[in-house]
Amino acid sequence: MTDKRKYYLTTPIYYTNGLPHIGHTYSTIVCDTIRRYKRMRGYDVVMTTGTDEHGVNVERSAKKAGVPESEFVAKMAAEWRALWDELGVQGDEFIRTTDLKHAHTVQWLFKQCRENGFVYPGHYTGQYCIYDNAYVDVKPGENCPDCGRSTETVTEANYFFKLSAFQKPLLQWYAKHPDFIQPEARRNEVLSFVEGGLRDLSITRTTIRWGIPVPGEEPHVFYVWFDALTAYLSAVGGPQYEKTGFWPADVHLVGKEIIRFHAVYWPAFLMAAGLPLPKQIWAHGWLLMDSTKMSKSLGNVVRPRPIVHVLGMDALRYYLLRETVFGQDGNFSYDALVQRYNSDLANGLGNLASRTAAMIEKNSGGKIPKPAALQPSDSALATQAQAAIGDVVEQYDNLAFSRALEQIWSLIAATDKYLTTEHPWSLGESDADQQRRATILWTTAEVLRIATALTHPVLPESTTKVWSLLGQPGQPGSIALDNLRWGQLVPGTPLGKSQALFPRIEKAEAIERMESMENEAQKQPSPAVAPMPASTPAASGTAAAAAPQATPEKIGIEDFAKVEMRVGQIKTAERIVGADKLLKLTVDIGTEIRQICAGIAQYYEPEKLIGRKVAVVVNLAPRKLRGVESNGMIVAASVGPEGRPVLAGFPDEDVEIGARLK
Ligand code: MSP
Repeated sequence: MTDKRKYYLTTPIYYTNGLPHIGHTYSTIVCDTIRRYKRMRGYDVVMTTGTDEHGVNVERSAKKAGVPESEFVAKMAAEWRALWDELGVQGDEFIRTTDLKHAHTVQWLFKQCRENGFVYPGHYTGQYCIYDNAYVDVKPGENCPDCGRSTETVTEANYFFKLSAFQKPLLQWYAKHPDFIQPEARRNEVLSFVEGGLRDLSITRTTIRWGIPVPGEEPHVFYVWFDALTAYLSAVGGPQYEKTGFWPADVHLVGKEIIRFHAVYWPAFLMAAGLPLPKQIWAHGWLLMDSTKMSKSLGNVVRPRPIVHVLGMDALRYYLLRETVFGQDGNFSYDALVQRYNSDLANGLGNLASRTAAMIEKNSGGKIPKPAALQPSDSALATQAQAAIGDVVEQYDNLAFSRALEQIWSLIAATDKYLTTEHPWSLGESDADQQRRATILWTTAEVLRIATALTHPVLPESTTKVWSLLGQPGQPGSIALDNLRWGQLVPGTPLGKSQALFPRIEKAEAIERMESMENEAQKQPSPAVAPMPASTPAASGTAAAAAPQATPEKIGIEDFAKVEMRVGQIKTAERIVGADKLLKLTVDIGTEIRQICAGIAQYYEPEKLIGRKVAVVVNLAPRKLRGVESNGMIVAASVGPEGRPVLAGFPDEDVEIGARLK
């Protein structure tokens, strides 16, 4: 064990004032994939993830929840941890910034920087963005240039870090280590930022209570970024990092919006303390929803749990790594997710595994057959598989996950084609035919074994099933990729138990299930809205008045008054790809323009709706329909047995937009 090469990688540590969405999930899954891959390359790997638990945001969220901060963050950290478990993420170290060992490391790092002359006391007044936890260069009243949200004027006594002293050393470091910041675009961005000059940085706060105290300097607590970045070091021994042998980190994997903290501040802190610098900072792109960054504050997030529940964790892992070119932004869509699941996983890997096993079961008594001499078609496949081993390893090394998966899937496609061309099922029972069939089935199973090994870092759950189906010993995670070669599949090996891999699923049904789980999860405690008349199944975003019931339950006028309905005017209307019943509308309700989805697409032409006045329920909690936020409900009658929606409207009167319906 001791002579193994060590490899240390980290995810960002996540804020605990919210719960994970698939943007956070993306960073963590990427890290977990690298971790699994490096293990298969023989490294002694440590992966750190964790939670960033201090700061004014947490103070405020805990207050809102009516619990002490420590209780609030403990609950949130447990949620983050549980989710990573469900996603098969194998973090070795889950660091919380409220851990004692972390506080000691932060205080120690500060002491080193101070003793080395890089910390001095001062005062600072500036505009502070509490969402990004950073002072920003804007005037009072102006919004944060990074996230667009409001800033606050803050004046405080604090300790400054002499960041200005590190302009030159940092530029020298970047020049000497051209791969330090990846990808190239981010490197250029950081270089021009540093070349523009660095201002000293305030690294303690007196305006915040919820933080790690600066020893002997209370009420100073550490600035959250000084605190958070140090977590990477606390996780692997802190001041005793030399004992663990895992510092410096091989790679800090981060989202592109926090590259500056990692590629400028963090190395400067480490230089000031005389500590080794991480080898690489890799900034990935964002997951977008309708071309906008997915984020809680924008209300456009997709949570991972419903996806895992309906399609399985491997489906989410595969989709995130296959669909987005690593380093670039990528759009999320339920439609593409289910499409990938059905085409690549169910019809691709899953189908190849089950038909191979079924043919071996039938023709070879459930044991891997013995191949005879390979023919050109077999050898061509062998060559392709052998080449894939080297290429995929190289692509994983370069974090080119989508290309790696593309290559593995073209091997799977070539094998499907090979089976169609060779059609082993139509061979007879002569010796020659039996030998030929055995060769084809062995070749197919061998490709499957290689594809399984190569895919394991991305699909840990399903590849484990395929591995045991092929009767292979141990776990695929313990395969040494460096020893993986064509031809190692041993004839005579009995197949293992067959287990369900990726059952095919109807797209509309899958999306419906994921979205309704997502909506359930997002439902706030009932705002005591009076129950609306039943809507037609199709008219999810419309309140279609149901036929009167025999014994309607009576409600008081005060209950009815809770439903706020107003006159709205449709401004735009468009169809939603993959949702034939829904239209996405923007509706002017007098005070604002709302986006509302209505289940009327089969009965109304979008173009003909523009300008039409409709009745809108405006105080309904927002929900998502097919991944599209719907913020309100259009009222419609439900007509006939099929519940055709007919929009309620105001044809005879020129009613004012925004007028309330009473
Ligand atoms: N706590 C800081 C990081 C401190 S690291 C020492 C923080 N936390 S965060 O909860 O906001 O998580 C940020 C990370 O989550 C991003 O850097 C990125 O890795 C990931 N993502 C959050 N939203 C994302 C997308 N929409 N898309 C992809 N990743 C995103 O910043």
